[in-house]
Amino acid sequence: MSKAEIGLIGLGTMGASLALNIAEKGFAIAVWNRTAETTHAFHAAAQGAPFADRITPAETLEAFVAAIARPRAIILMVPAGPVVDEQIKRLTPLLEPGDLIIDAGNANFHDTDRRAADAAKGGPRFLGIGVSGGEEGARHGPSIMGGGEKADWDRVSHILEAIAAKYEGTPCATYMGPGGAGHFVKAVHNGIEYADMQMIAEVYGVMRDGLGMTAGEIADVFRRWNRGPLQSYLIEISGEVAAATDPIGGGAMLDAILDRAGQKGTGRWTAIEAQHLAAPITVIEAAVAARNISARLPERKEGQAAFGAAPQRTDAFGIDTLEQALICGKILCYAQGFAMIGAAAKAFDWPLPLPEIARVWREGCIIRSAMLNDMAEALSGAPDRNLMLAPAFADRLKATHGALRQAVAAAAMNGLPMPALSAGLAYFDMMRTERSTANLIQGQRDFFGAHGFDRLDGADSHHGPWGSHG
Ligand SMILES: NC(=O)c1ccc[n+]([C@@H]2O[C@H](COP(=O)([O-])OP(=O)(O)OC[C@H]3O[C@@H](n4cnc5c(N)ncnc54)[C@H](OP(=O)(O)O)[C@@H]3O)[C@@H](O)[C@H]2O)c1
Repeated sequence: MSKAEIGLIGLGTMGASLALNIAEKGFAIAVWNRTAETTHAFHAAAQGAPFADRITPAETLEAFVAAIARPRAIILMVPAGPVVDEQIKRLTPLLEPGDLIIDAGNANFHDTDRRAADAAKGGPRFLGIGVSGGEEGARHGPSIMGGGEKADWDRVSHILEAIAAKYEGTPCATYMGPGGAGHFVKAVHNGIEYADMQMIAEVYGVMRDGLGMTAGEIADVFRRWNRGPLQSYLIEISGEVAAATDPIGGGAMLDAILDRAGQKGTGRWTAIEAQHLAAPITVIEAAVAARNISARLPERKEGQAAFGAAPQRTDAFGIDTLEQALICGKILCYAQGFAMIGAAAKAFDWPLPLPEIARVWREGCIIRSAMLNDMAEALSGAPDRNLMLAPAFADRLKATHGALRQAVAAAAMNGLPMPALSAGLAYFDMMRTERSTANLIQGQRDFFGAHGFDRLDGADSHHGPWGSHG
């Protein structure tokens, strides 16, 4: 029997879908799962498919490894963290020089860096790839962000490009750089995903609590927006979520969902890493914090009892103003995210290809949107320039920042929380203020710590007249 071209470990939600995608695209694949019943169920379910004979299920890890052609390529689709290390440890004695392990889970990129360093010291070869698009993406075309040795990427890129989503025929799978570069870009993608979702939730809050609109009316607005500049997967599914009927209660599904948002930590990792890089991603940070606040339901209840409900009905918002505000917030959020990737490229000496990153996000992934194509073009001209200053986006910001200001101001006056959009507005205002207030910060620092300061006139005096009061 001929051997499989690739192997996959972990037939959970993502792994099973990815395995079917790989087989469907014409590649023979061997699969193994810790729990054998899952392997049996997966194999049985695949039987009706025209590509079923390309799938080789294995009962043991040894049989799995033996079923793959040398040099082997093995995808891991298991929970990030210690499970990946455990799985590498179990596989290593069964592998031969040149065999390649590909971690396709949501690893922390520092772990991927460490695993890549182990590979360089003589372990199995190692790639860390970020895979976005959820179960549907994994099955029919995810967006793939690769990291590791370029030669290892080149060895499997024909498979990864074949299974990836396509944007006008171009595969959304790209090599990002060495070590953890792929997982780093995936983490920033997820951070942006948090922010995109939060900003949409903020305008939803205005429509629901400020304007008193029903879920059905809100669904219509999202559907309309999805035909304009905001066209994106997240606006599309927001419309579908808002339009759905609760199969139990019969009302709007959205109104029956508990308002406590979960997270698996990738947004938090992005925020933490941004602090290390001194990269301001205030919109993403606000979105991560908003999820954390949403989880504090008992405290929020106490807060409402103590201070009264904040949201007030108001007609201070126009739907078109909200749309413009969301466009503006989205541009500012992506400007921050791409600037953070640029900062990482410098700090880690990674050749992160910013325009290519915008391109692989155009299809397959959760943040796919019409605007990303324009971003790819804007970044192609000048990848180091803040996206805010790219002419096409500067023009859009000029046209929409007034709406963002109106929306944030009206939200503040009516007690409607808008943390991410407000953070975007503050970033915009700070980024267009040549004379900031950091002169006072410098004065304070010199006062208590004799840290010194530079003078505007360039004079050679670097301390204030306050002596030492520290
Ligand atoms: N779900 C998404 O939308 C999504 C999107 C992008 C990336 N990811 C990432 O993809 C990875 C897999 O996610 P998933 O949603 O597919 O998870 P999942 O449905 O929970 O599946 C986890 C898989 O890992 C296996 N596994 C768990 N612990 C193991 C262990 N100690 N040793 C060996 N195998 C073990 C499970 O095998 P058993 O059957 O034996 O339990 C199962 O096959 C994660 O890193 C996740 O963050 C997920």
